Amino acid sequence: MISAPHLTILMALLVTAPWPAQAKVTERHTSARAGEAIAYARCAGCHAVGQSVASPNAGAPAFEEVGRKYRSIRLEWELEAISDVGHYSMPAKPMDAQEIRNLTAYIRSIKPRDQ
Ligand code: HEC
Repeated sequence: MISAPHLTILMALLVTAPWPAQAKVTERHTSARAGEAIAYARCAGCHAVGQSVASPNAGAPAFEEVGRKYRSIRLEWELEAISDVGHYSMPAKPMDAQEIRNLTAYIRSIKPRDQ
């Protein structure tokens, strides 16, 4: 049997616990256009953005290629890792969750060249 004080603590924990599924609903709409703006502002110095093939930094893959390589949910994880620690020779690029969603939407929206 749970005593009254314990029940109060339990209730308080339940009320204050973060609820990720609910938090997502209240966040702003994902926008490929906003992602495109981030890509041009913060990534285009090294990566080819849009349908162009030649990256300014020869070691950086074109985003069209990145879109083909990461068709699944993994692109979001990849961008999260890049945001935190970078990616091999690429420096870390701090991005918030909304920016990551927008960039993912943008990169996925680039039409593959071979289609
Ligand atoms: C200073 C240059 C530079 C900038 C700026 C830059 N990148 Fe990169 N990025 C690279 C390089 C170089 C690589 C290849 C890393 C490697 O494999 O060693 C890379 C790799 C990646 C990859 C992995 C591709 C793969 O095939 O696994 C992704 C995704 C990526 N970058 C996304 C981004 C995003 C998003 C931004 C902007 C927020 C960005 N990059 C900005 C240089 C850069």
